[in-house]
Amino acid sequence: MRTITTAGGSVLPAMGFGTWRMGERPAHKAEEIRVLQHAIDCGVSMFDTAEIYGDGGAERLLGEAIRGRREQVFLVSKVAPHNASRAGTLRACEASLKRLGTDHLELYLLHWIGGVPLEETVGAFEHLQAAGKIRAWGVSNFDIDDMEALPPGCAVNQVLYNPQSRGIEYNLLPWCQNAGISVMAYTPLGQSNRVLGNATIKAVAARHNATTAQIALAWGLRNPDVVTIPKTSSLARVEENLGALEISLTEDDLAAIDTAFPPPRRAQALEMI
Ligand SMILES: NC(=O)c1ccc[n+]([C@@H]2O[C@H](COP(=O)([O-])OP(=O)(O)OC[C@H]3O[C@@H](n4cnc5c(N)ncnc54)[C@H](OP(=O)(O)O)[C@@H]3O)[C@@H](O)[C@H]2O)c1
Repeated sequence: MRTITTAGGSVLPAMGFGTWRMGERPAHKAEEIRVLQHAIDCGVSMFDTAEIYGDGGAERLLGEAIRGRREQVFLVSKVAPHNASRAGTLRACEASLKRLGTDHLELYLLHWIGGVPLEETVGAFEHLQAAGKIRAWGVSNFDIDDMEALPPGCAVNQVLYNPQSRGIEYNLLPWCQNAGISVMAYTPLGQSNRVLGNATIKAVAARHNATTAQIALAWGLRNPDVVTIPKTSSLARVEENLGALEISLTEDDLAAIDTAFPPPRRAQALEMI
């Protein structure tokens, strides 16, 4: 697996695995655990979760899936803004560690910006780092102004990024690259089939004998400072999504995608879901 090293020295696999909407339905639990374990068997090492996913259910599911294999995985979780005071962050982290069945996270993110002063949340992150409970910290859904207000030390900004939502290319992505902060692309397959069902994406996929999901993921990964975290609850799609790492899009492919999904020509407010 290709890796990316942030300015702070965090080494991130280029592709991880999202867990939003997993761990919510008891009837799906066994199959979801099989999918997560299959992903590890196939070489996926980074898993993205959050305390709010399934109200802790996604972390519990992931904790069960990685039991006995903790050393093989890079865990990312997130504190919700309403818990992001100093004491709240320390408490939320302990609760996430407990649900995940581990004593540390590789990366801990502030899920989105809320009312707590950033210095306070970052102070808690630094405390957790010094105590060995987290290896690195970062943020999510932070636009350029938020990034500028952030104390130093951030490893990652996790944001919405796919061909249909590419506003970050105008200034946020270059800003992060310049600062040595990796961009972790969430919802990389797009929403409502607008990317996967697009005629141009289908044509590019046909040229590469690939699927449209693989093209969407390869498109995000064309940038060496971007990592991607697709989610699937399907065994077969684990390998399919990993297959994107083998695809190099040509200049013609990229130009065609630019025509179908034009790059931003001016600064845009960060989109989020
Ligand atoms: N920080 C944030 O605010 C934030 C927001 C959103 C997401 N995230 C993180 O990013 C992760 C990924 O984003 P996401 O889950 O919103 O969207 P996504 O990974 O882009 O797409 C997931 C959807 O695509 C389907 N899918 C997966 N592989 C496919 C394939 N090969 N072909 C066709 N469909 C496929 C999945 O269905 P099946 O499961 O049935 O395969 C699911 O419905 C999340 O799980 C979460 O960890 C973070």
